[in-house]
Amino acid sequence: MNDPTLQEIKDRLNVADVIAGYIPIKKAGVNFKAACPFHHEKTPSLIISPQKQIWHCFGCGEGGDVFGFVLKYENLEFRDTLKILADKAGVKLPSYRPENKQQQDEKEFLLRINDFAARYYHKILISSQTGKAALEYLKNRGLTDGTIKRWQIGFAPDDFHALEKALATKKVSSADLVKAGVSAKNERGQMYDRFRGRITFPIYNYFGETVGFSARLLKENPNAGKYVNSPETSIYNKSKILFGLNFAKEAIRKKDEAVVVEGQMDCIAAHQADFTNTVATSGTALTEQQLAQLSRLTKNLKFCFDADAAGQAAARRAGELALKLGFRLKLVILQSSAQSEDQQLAKDPDELIKKSPGLWEKVVSEAVWFLDHYIDQADALFPPGSVEQKMYLSKEVVPFLAFVSDPLEQDHYIRKIATRFLISEKVIRDQIKPGNQQISESPFAEASGDRSADKLISKTGSGLLLQKEVLGGMLFFLDFIETIGRKIALEDFEDEEIRKLVNIWLKSGAKELSVNEHPLAKEAIFMLESQLGELEGNREILRKNLEKSFALFKVSALKRRQQSLQAEIKAAEVAGNKIRLDELNREFADVLKERSEFEKNL
Ligand code: UTP
Ligand code: MN
Repeated sequence: MNDPTLQEIKDRLNVADVIAGYIPIKKAGVNFKAACPFHHEKTPSLIISPQKQIWHCFGCGEGGDVFGFVLKYENLEFRDTLKILADKAGVKLPSYRPENKQQQDEKEFLLRINDFAARYYHKILISSQTGKAALEYLKNRGLTDGTIKRWQIGFAPDDFHALEKALATKKVSSADLVKAGVSAKNERGQMYDRFRGRITFPIYNYFGETVGFSARLLKENPNAGKYVNSPETSIYNKSKILFGLNFAKEAIRKKDEAVVVEGQMDCIAAHQADFTNTVATSGTALTEQQLAQLSRLTKNLKFCFDADAAGQAAARRAGELALKLGFRLKLVILQSSAQSEDQQLAKDPDELIKKSPGLWEKVVSEAVWFLDHYIDQADALFPPGSVEQKMYLSKEVVPFLAFVSDPLEQDHYIRKIATRFLISEKVIRDQIKPGNQQISESPFAEASGDRSADKLISKTGSGLLLQKEVLGGMLFFLDFIETIGRKIALEDFEDEEIRKLVNIWLKSGAKELSVNEHPLAKEAIFMLESQLGELEGNREILRKNLEKSFALFKVSALKRRQQSLQAEIKAAEVAGNKIRLDELNREFADVLKERSEFEKNL
């Protein structure tokens, strides 16, 4: 992180101004206060210190410098965050990291090729004879000139070399065209344009740069796919990009809600009708990475997938993932009521919006909670009290309850199902105990397993806060280390960055003062200084509080240790390894003893 460009950017920016660009902040003495965007709260507990150029949330323990805020808030990778901040700071980013320069240059070049192609196809659509039929088709489907321009919709001529020829005067090799995804090579090594005789929809990344295309046939043709899409390239990561997010991100943040549809036509039609918080999955399964991008903008999702079987299956799979990640999820139902299955309002959002934007607004506002929908289905689809109904609940509904992360909400649904369908609560609770869930065909099982959910929780939970407090204590009170000295173990720190700092600090015998310059250390000290302020400068009480925090910190570390020992004990039992088992049992007893010592101090 001690890159000179990064430092220059940080020097030029004021953390308070940058944060104020994202959320409302209020002056509080020399600092600023804000409601923390990283956890749910009513009273502001995020403090920003312009003097130290850091921020910290006393509620959830998140914090850092200006860079860390934007990284978390926008949920971007390092390089992309840098791009945003450099822009704000008016710093020109040179080829960042020389070893990546070539790669970076190539990416920029591939973006330029795609951008050229988008403009080329767009021009053909709006101002040539070749594009006339396509333009008519789009107008017939209700798209306005403004929409066609805004989304740079185009038409690729039915010609194997049109784009190639258009690029002839530019210095672009055929290899570059293939890498950019706009051309392909046949078995004989001959180049041809990938998109031919199709309407082209540019696919934009978060920043609005063209990374690829989705190209639709004008007339249905049984011998050709309806859409041809760009392949995965170094600039187009399909599991990361959400169609329309570049245009939707501000509205999603403002409305604190995102509507997710399947098709790009659905998405474009929604935006045209002023429902600008809409994005599309482009017909593929919603991924954890896509949801992670949305989660920084809002926790409220509405899915509106097509009314067909594929759309409904997609909604279930995506729903599982979204619940696990803690989204509040609703479903937009394209039927006039749950009872009348055949009374479809429309097959997809595009069709409904075209019929009546007002009707679309109505169904979106009447979206039902994800779980309620499946519970209602039990009544709509099966005779009351039948075995089929119970089987449906047990197989299709109850397993989802395990993914509801809020225990009160989970309890609400357990009771609801139990009373409404006369099932014992215990049976339901047993079924959703960890290890008992069986949504079998989920393709997300490995990608999105509970581990990532745990990670999210421990990152935002009080665990991080305690770790920062202990770090702060070590830096703030030099004799704190002596008190806790032998009781501390590096493994107690779950956060890798904090563990590193503690290691350096301990190894140097509390002499390596540069540790204090690390944003995390600054934040930890700031935390304690603020607490000291609230205690009217009483260092004794602060010391006492810190010792309590340290005990809590140790208890949670020892709990983790017990858990892993338990797993090892099980394994040793299975393997029949008696010696190891004795060893482990002894260690387990020691840990238990140590833990109860600390618990006495709480
Ligand atoms: P749909 O078949 O629902 O298309 O596929 P659509 O968006 O409603 O298109 P129109 O209204 O018929 O013009 C939904 C999405 O799935 C992807 C596309 O991204 C499409 O928007 N898809 C569909 C493909 O990638 N390939 C296909 O062959 C079909
Ligand atoms: Mn459609």
